[in-house]
Amino acid sequence: MEIYNKDRKYMRLVADILYHPEFQKMKDIVHHGMNRYEHCVRVSYFSYKLCKMLHLEYEKVARAGLLHDFFFEDNEAIDSKKERAEIMVKHPQYALENAEKYFTLSDLEKDIILTHMFPVAPMVPKYMESWIVDFIDDLVSVYEKSFSVKRELSAAMSFLMIVSMNFLR
Ligand SMILES: [Fe+2]
Ligand SMILES: [Fe+2]
Repeated sequence: MEIYNKDRKYMRLVADILYHPEFQKMKDIVHHGMNRYEHCVRVSYFSYKLCKMLHLEYEKVARAGLLHDFFFEDNEAIDSKKERAEIMVKHPQYALENAEKYFTLSDLEKDIILTHMFPVAPMVPKYMESWIVDFIDDLVSVYEKSFSVKRELSAAMSFLMIVSMNFLR
C-alpha cells in the first residue's frame, strides 16, 4: 500500500507514530497473512479518507486508526483456541495501554481503539468515528484474508502444475 506515502497531509498527521521504533516492530508480526503494520496503515488511511469526506474528526481518526491494533501478541503463532479467543477480545485494551505509553490520546482516540472489536468484544462505540473505524477494520480484514487465501491457492496451483508437468506425462 503506497498511496498513503504520497498523501502529505496524512503523513504530517501520523509521521511520529509511523516512524516510532515501537510501532515499526509491528512490521515483523503476521496479521491476516500479511503484517500488522500494513493492516493498521490500511485501517487508518481508509478511515481518515472517509471521515474527511463526512467532515468528522479525521485527524484523530488517522492516529487512532493506526494505533487500534498496537499490540505484540502474535495470534497466528498461538495454537490454543482459548488463548486466541482471549486475545481477540482483550487486544483493544492491550493496544490502548501501549498507545498511552508513547502518545497522548484524546477521549475520542481512546474510544476508537477500545471499541474497534465491537460486537466481538462488548465495548460499544460512543462516537460516529469509532463506528467507522470498527466498520473499516472489518472490511480491510476481509480483504486481507481473501488476498492471503488467493495467494495460498495460487501457490498450491503452481505446485500442482509442476507436479503434473514432471510426473504425469
Ligand atoms: Fe483489532
Ligand atoms: Fe484491526
